[in-house]
Amino acid sequence: MAERFVTESIQHPDKAFELTLRPQDFSSYIGQAKVKERLELAVEAAKQRTEPVGHILLSGPPGLGKTTLAHIIARMMGSNIVVTSGPTIERAGDLAGLLTKLERGDVLFIDEIHRLPAQVEEYLYPAMEDYRLDIVIDQGPSARSVRLNLPRFTLIGATTRSGLLTAPLRSRFEITDRLDYYVAADLQQICLRSARILGVEIDNPGALEIARRSRGTPRLCNNLLRRVRDYAQVRADGHITAPIADKALAMLDIDEHGLDDMDKRLLEAIVHKYRGGPVGVSTIAVAVGEEPGTIEEVYEPFLIQEGYLQRTPQGRVATELTYKKLGVKRTGKSQSELF
Ligand code: ADE
Repeated sequence: MAERFVTESIQHPDKAFELTLRPQDFSSYIGQAKVKERLELAVEAAKQRTEPVGHILLSGPPGLGKTTLAHIIARMMGSNIVVTSGPTIERAGDLAGLLTKLERGDVLFIDEIHRLPAQVEEYLYPAMEDYRLDIVIDQGPSARSVRLNLPRFTLIGATTRSGLLTAPLRSRFEITDRLDYYVAADLQQICLRSARILGVEIDNPGALEIARRSRGTPRLCNNLLRRVRDYAQVRADGHITAPIADKALAMLDIDEHGLDDMDKRLLEAIVHKYRGGPVGVSTIAVAVGEEPGTIEEVYEPFLIQEGYLQRTPQGRVATELTYKKLGVKRTGKSQSELF
């Protein structure tokens, strides 16, 4: 029974979180059907056994709902959730501070878990496996190890770069799931739901137009909905229709397929400056004035999935679709074809 995990010091997910558009339970979470079914089942089974749910690793591009799912899981388990991120846990002591605050069944959510420092990660292994923490206190001859027993907790790790996770860490998660970009029909439902919560008038074609141009990402869909709402309010009667959404999105330089200014600059740089590639991500980053990590985590996955870009061992290569999109004729062979 979930009640077993409810503690006196319950920190319900903070108020601001509840006021956002994020769904609070599995039934209002739209899309990602397979992942949702697997997680819901794991939670249900753990609840029946009155045990905490096993450690969970969620991966996938940003904005798809990894944090939302962690909150839903904690809520369904009737547990507290402590939210942190890999880069903020700098030393073993920081981790100890977090772990020793947990109570049985609590969820520790570590976002960007691939950025956890290596020396901290090692302390996490016995904590995850045996619920113990061996910390060394003092230095030199008086250094000694102190063992802390931890309550059974659930670690939920989220990462945009599952490939960067070390094998020992990955293997300690009982459940690993990957979130993929949402299909337009699911994003349309998310858009309609968010509009209802925000009290925005929108019709089905209007919601579909925003959905189609949201790069498969609910966070972006909700942001665009807010921007289109502004447009509809100031330039029209406040009601969002497909033509209004189209005009608003064109004003924001978001094209027919959801590509924004940075996507286009990126593709243009590869085509015009590097003859279509292959070109390394750090070179592209300098050309467009963006961080290589952001290009890899935010822009590239969508461009690859939509068929504009290929990742090869030699570097990034623009595809035929990119040439078509930019209205550029291929002159001669790309650098990749020359090899
Ligand atoms: N808002 C953001 N993501 C959502 C989702 N997956 N379902 C419903 N509403 C959402």
